Amino acid sequence: MEEQRTIEKVVNLAKRRGFIFPSSEIYGGLSAAYDYGPLGVELKNNIKKAWWKMFVTDRMDMVGLDASIIMHPKVWEASGHVDNFSDPLVDCKKCHKRFRYDHLLEDNSIEPKHDKAKVVDPKELACPECGGELTDVKQFNMMFKTFMGPVEDSASAVYLRPETAGGIFVNFKNVVDTQRVRLPFGIAQIGKAFRNEITTENFIFRTREFEQMEVEYFVNPKDWEKHFDDWLNVMRDWCGFLGLKKDNLVEVDIAEKDRAFYSKRTIDFEYKFPFGQKELFGLAYRTDYDLTQHEKFSGQDLKYTDPVTKEKFIPHVIEPSLGLDRGLLATLIAAYTEIDGGRSTTTTAIKDMEIVLKLPYQLAPIKVAVLPLSKKEPLAKLSQEILMKLKKNFVCVYDETASIGKRYRRQDEIGTPYCLTVDFDSLEDKQVTVRDRDTMVQERIAIDELEAYFKEKLNY
Ligand code: GAP
Repeated sequence: MEEQRTIEKVVNLAKRRGFIFPSSEIYGGLSAAYDYGPLGVELKNNIKKAWWKMFVTDRMDMVGLDASIIMHPKVWEASGHVDNFSDPLVDCKKCHKRFRYDHLLEDNSIEPKHDKAKVVDPKELACPECGGELTDVKQFNMMFKTFMGPVEDSASAVYLRPETAGGIFVNFKNVVDTQRVRLPFGIAQIGKAFRNEITTENFIFRTREFEQMEVEYFVNPKDWEKHFDDWLNVMRDWCGFLGLKKDNLVEVDIAEKDRAFYSKRTIDFEYKFPFGQKELFGLAYRTDYDLTQHEKFSGQDLKYTDPVTKEKFIPHVIEPSLGLDRGLLATLIAAYTEIDGGRSTTTTAIKDMEIVLKLPYQLAPIKVAVLPLSKKEPLAKLSQEILMKLKKNFVCVYDETASIGKRYRRQDEIGTPYCLTVDFDSLEDKQVTVRDRDTMVQERIAIDELEAYFKEKLNY
């Protein structure tokens, strides 16, 4: 119950402070669709930027890509999505609600989480909403289908990509031919993916439109285990960077019978969300399945020739696959902190519960809040000058209303690492007070040194 309240509080904060809004809200919203507001888009961009740096530009063996969302339909025939990308669906005969059958089994503790093999007749279960009888299981393909051009026939049918990986595999040859890359190397992509999920749940945890950050890392099959372990460590580092505690992360080595048929090893990173332990990210060894399939379906030679040994083969693939929205949700939950009785030392007036969003400083949407002690001149002018200078390098806000204690709290609630107060002494000594979100330590810093100070503190 307490845990359920945590997710409600995070949803509430996200809406109230402009991180995440229900989509199309003035029309009553659209089920499980969300819009990132002014603070949400900053947070999301910061996550993407940090991921790109850690997974791509800090490394010597990675390049990036941005492929189109609508691709040739053959891509999804080759990958197996047209035939196999489906979830088991059951309907309630009485209230006509639809459910994912595997989730119903999980909810009824009938099968271990990853045991796909176990068969249970849906007649043994009842509708969780009304207790009605359930239909037989049907397979429901999750790809979003649409039509390209003015004619809606099978020849013009296309799909919105269900994963970003497909765009990477079909560009493997382009990258090899243009980039002087040698195995092992990887291609990364961040972008939208679409799945017509039967059921959506838990805010932005499972939606039909979401973003993925994926790497396809091409290796010689004899080295796959080493590279798998390397990427496992990178993913662990990434979880640490997001501020996720080790205690809340569980690495699940998926058993052979439960893995995709082409995968020789899969590790799911599961996170203990307030609504249960669920998949956060995944790492898979996909063998040479994808490139072999695309070679077969496209008729193109997708083999790689080792420049030293002249060995010619289809590279194997290690795939770290990370949901951006799911990662962002876990980050928000991990950062959300309530402090009973508050922790303000500047005012005795506010003694109720205080919220501090302890986001990693690099991810915080706003880096510096400029707070003049008085709205009046000459403090306002000096504060504006400081703001305009800092804005060139850092996302800043200006807030001159309410007491300084209240203004600190507003910033704590959205995770702003630094509040900068301009007071009457500032006019004389050309210094301001900088307050750190987590330690609440206040330092006098020379106005001329602010840029360098924040660059160092924020690791720019
Ligand atoms: N290319 C491999 C792949 O797509 P996946 O396990 O189906 O693997 C990878 O998806 C990640 O994408 C998941 O671990 C999760 O973080 C995210 N994801 C998948 N479906 C999602 C959904 N409906 N809503 C939000 N995130 C989702």
